Amino acid sequence: MPSDGYTYLCEFDVLEDGVPRRFEVEGMPLSLVLTEKQVFAIHDMCSHSAVSLSEGEVDGCTVECWLHGSRFDLRTGSPLDPPATRPVPVYPVQIEDGCVYALLPRSER
Ligand code: FES
Repeated sequence: MPSDGYTYLCEFDVLEDGVPRRFEVEGMPLSLVLTEKQVFAIHDMCSHSAVSLSEGEVDGCTVECWLHGSRFDLRTGSPLDPPATRPVPVYPVQIEDGCVYALLPRSER
């Protein structure tokens, strides 16, 4: 069983390497990204404008916003290039028995 507070999102097998998968949990958009043999959970909204990051390109541990090209570090949510200056929330992930869970703070739902 995952730790307390973690929300079930999907089975690990449905994730494709390097292809973000979008979810909506109680109205909150988030994206799961399998890359570099890890699964990352990131809020699915660019901090520069209301654009879905799951439609962007994954490269290593980064995802690039398709609209203006800011890349975000999937480990920290920090922007690596302008024009975005603010980080995007990232969430801890647990994988248990082939299932993927994320710890989603209530305040952001
Ligand atoms: S909307 Fe994402 S960088 Fe501008």
